Amino acid sequence: MLVNFNEMLKKAKEGHYAVPQFNINNLEWTKYILEKCNELNIPVILGVSEGAAKYMGGFLVVSSMVQAMITSLKIEIPVCLHLDHGSTVENCKAAIDAGFSSVMFDGSKHPLKENIELTKEVVDYAHKHMVSVEAEVGHIGGTEDNVNSEILNATLEDCLELYNNTGIDSLAPALGSVHGFYKGEPNLDFVTMKKISDKMPIPLVLHGGTGIPEDKIKTAIANGISKININTELQAVWSKAVREFLDKDKNVYDPRKVIGSGENAIKNQINKIVTIFETKL
Ligand code: 13P
Repeated sequence: MLVNFNEMLKKAKEGHYAVPQFNINNLEWTKYILEKCNELNIPVILGVSEGAAKYMGGFLVVSSMVQAMITSLKIEIPVCLHLDHGSTVENCKAAIDAGFSSVMFDGSKHPLKENIELTKEVVDYAHKHMVSVEAEVGHIGGTEDNVNSEILNATLEDCLELYNNTGIDSLAPALGSVHGFYKGEPNLDFVTMKKISDKMPIPLVLHGGTGIPEDKIKTAIANGISKININTELQAVWSKAVREFLDKDKNVYDPRKVIGSGENAIKNQINKIVTIFETKL
């Protein structure tokens, strides 16, 4: 059964660790992530971007696949199926209608007042369905799903205003992280992160987890981060493994062997990541 993220992130905030959001791209990734997290006995959030949902055939395909996989593979850990960066109220509602247990409404491209109005509409709809909602303040930088974004850091005042007027369940304040690989050292604003965390009762989310060194991940968790999103890192280790496999065997053509040649790379990387996050049940 799918669950929203409230219980798992509440425990993470109290226990000073982070729950991973791993983005999924296809059936195989979903299976590898579920199997590995189940083996490690840790909760997991499966992130699905709008682009990835479209690639897989739509929200209903994704939701049905994940729910069937949980049953068929006898997955016993808490699993949250989360729309990543929902760009419109309609898309968030469509994901909820299709059975997603959580959504992010990314209103960061709108002025704050509009971001608040639209986020509130998503929260009202989501909470009727027991679905959790994450929102964004400021702009997280980098490129995701071919959309480029400049960094614009969040302020405590804007975060409080959005929280107080919407009732969101978690917040992703942009504080210097970027999607994709970093050019140089990530420059995260831990001072503002701590201020926001101290003033807000809800868990904070760090996007752009790929490429953040271990010490900065640990500092982020110590300063109030309870959920960390990872996408590019798993894509990179998977592609490297598949490329090496194809280079080694020029005659292989069975797609199960080709795609599956990246399985261990994904599973090993998940192990490393959640060890750093100190994820627990
Ligand atoms: P990365 O691709 O940098 O890991 O970021 C993922 C993310 O934040 C998804 O929302």
